[in-house]
Amino acid sequence: MPQRDTKIERPAHLSVMRDEVIEYICVSKDGHYLDGTFGYGGHSEGFLGAGASQVLGLDQDQSALDAYRAIGAARNDPRLHLQRGRFSNVKELTQLRDWDGAILDLGPNSGQLLTPERGFSFNEAGPLDMRMDTQNGSTLEEWLGQQDAESLADALYAATGMRDSRRVARRLLAAFEAGTLKTTEDLAKLSGPRRGKTHPATECFLGLRMAVNDELGEVRRGIPAILDCLKPGGRLGIITFHSTEDRLVKHIFKLLAGRCVCEERLCSCPRVEQVRWVNRKPLEPSADELQRNPRARSAKFRCVEKIATEA
Ligand SMILES: C[S@@+](CC[C@H](N)C(=O)[O-])C[C@H]1O[C@@H](n2cnc3c(N)ncnc32)[C@H](O)[C@@H]1O
Repeated sequence: MPQRDTKIERPAHLSVMRDEVIEYICVSKDGHYLDGTFGYGGHSEGFLGAGASQVLGLDQDQSALDAYRAIGAARNDPRLHLQRGRFSNVKELTQLRDWDGAILDLGPNSGQLLTPERGFSFNEAGPLDMRMDTQNGSTLEEWLGQQDAESLADALYAATGMRDSRRVARRLLAAFEAGTLKTTEDLAKLSGPRRGKTHPATECFLGLRMAVNDELGEVRRGIPAILDCLKPGGRLGIITFHSTEDRLVKHIFKLLAGRCVCEERLCSCPRVEQVRWVNRKPLEPSADELQRNPRARSAKFRCVEKIATEA
């Protein structure tokens, strides 16, 4: 029998828009920074390289933190502190306040996507799991067991704007209830055979992953929690990889910048300016970066600066 390799490895990983993140967040010597989606530590290493005096790296995935503690380049740097948890809970996870800046680089890491046992892959059979945090929350299988056709369709539509979410939800639940949907391979097959470049199951996997991990809820709760921890003048940058996610970040930033987001004739938006835009137009990876890392192609980076408000 082939021996399983127990060496800790991490897939080749390139951080997205790393230089731009450091520049836009204005990382300075002696500042302290929060990396709310630590992953393989690329952005944290950028903060450290720019002279940060302290970096807190949060990730909900214990295995990403373990891999970094074993082989990460800055694992012995006393300025780097790693903690498991969700960024929406940052205020409960640390007493530290008055951060100079924070980054969120949303979505899963390459290890999660490329390890079939984690249940994210439509190319290989794996369990119906898809949790980024394997120690908490419902697996995809448990979550599907709690849905009816309407709630599943609503979740898929909310996550990706899926046009035929009702039909897809009915088909998924019928297979699930008949016992023919047991693995990610079964799930992929439900979307039909691959024709073009994009796998037909891509949108369905994305929607289910976002629902299982409550990714939009994390963004909704996480942005105000992180802003509370920043000092006035501190900056929050967010990299998104999907239009629903980017629209949500834009909407929340707009609201926090004191703009109207309600589109009603009688506006009821609070119009209290809590942040100012650093870049109103989202930044995208350069052609150079895309050549090195084609996976960055859908990335968008938005950044705001916290404004001092009167007490
Ligand atoms: C795209 S990767 C980050 C890559 C990282 N910036 C780097 O350069 O290596 C996203 C990471 O964020 C984690 N993550 C996603 N949502 C999270 C959340 N709500 N709270 C904490 N970690 C989260 C995932 O587990 C994953 O490891």
